[in-house]
Amino acid sequence: MSLVFSGIQPTGAIHVGNYAGAISNWVRLQQEMDCIFCIVDYHSLTVAYEAKEMPRRVMDAALDILACGIDPERSRLFVQSHVPEHTELSWVLSCVAPMGELNRMTQFKEKSERVDWVNLGLYAYPVLQAADILLYKADVVPVGEDQVQHLEVTREIARRFNHQFGDTFPEPKPRLTKAARIMTLSDPSRKMSKSIEGSAIMLTDSEDAIRKQIKRAVTDVGPPAEPGTMSPGVANLFSLLEVFAPIEVYARFKGDYERGELRYKDIKESLTEEMLRVLSPIRERRRELAAKPGEVCRILKDSAADLRSRARVTMGEVREKLGLTACQ
Ligand code: TYM
Repeated sequence: MSLVFSGIQPTGAIHVGNYAGAISNWVRLQQEMDCIFCIVDYHSLTVAYEAKEMPRRVMDAALDILACGIDPERSRLFVQSHVPEHTELSWVLSCVAPMGELNRMTQFKEKSERVDWVNLGLYAYPVLQAADILLYKADVVPVGEDQVQHLEVTREIARRFNHQFGDTFPEPKPRLTKAARIMTLSDPSRKMSKSIEGSAIMLTDSEDAIRKQIKRAVTDVGPPAEPGTMSPGVANLFSLLEVFAPIEVYARFKGDYERGELRYKDIKESLTEEMLRVLSPIRERRRELAAKPGEVCRILKDSAADLRSRARVTMGEVREKLGLTACQ
């Protein structure tokens, strides 16, 4: 049976891009596969943050993910730093990871442009991500499009490790949704992102804030780049509609577009209603869970205990293959 692994950084509230590109797929996949989902706090150390804020950010991420429908009876949800084998494997993999590949990472280039000095962790970020996935020998990784390049590095690292030390890791494949790259509503040339202030609709935003953001969404700016192509803003509204609305609603608007009869006001209103229909119960569940932080901690800790024993098995095998066996 396939094993699914994916992760999210605890860097602020989860937005509809995360939901559309990744979490909606997590919820679907847990119906049919063994799934592990991780709040990657070690990864979030690569950018400046307040240490005293971290526990709350981890708890917020856990609440959002559980409220979206991750079922702790079916899936494991845990905090990366609760299983220290992630960093142990990361070091091992950094000794087979080619720097040439890491130098190509667009996310590293973008993030390093925004800081005064670049820490080694930001550069080694994809290696820790590879360790997350390979530690459990996962083969399916549901992510948004921005993570596909990191997944290529994971596959390359797995191949190199297997070649050098014998068959150990599968080569995991990304699993994308139809909305793998949601753009900022007010500027559809930029990806919706937690790190760009005001660029995202958060799952926890009020109804009013969501209505306003969609109403103000940019649709057409000038004539299309190529005749007959959909403008990025309109394409973005369709991507969101595909995730949040029933297929008939999406198909109806697509038909309108193809006949040249699409009214932006109508698609925006419909998207608003459909998004609120999906998000309202999520917000309600989140409120209920927030009242039971002890229960949420128990879910995270139980998952980590289970995963730690799986991680130890892989690390035992890895140490054996590397020859780290003296005096045993
Ligand atoms: P993160 O925290 O940036 O994002 C979490 C997930 O949301 C997806 N995503 C989007 N999808 C569509 N449109 C968008 N605008 C958008 N923004 C974000 C991301 O692609 C991601 O799937 N490096 C990862 C976390 C990670 C991980 C892993 C993922 C660490 N280890 C192992 C998979 C497997 C990250 O920073 O995601």
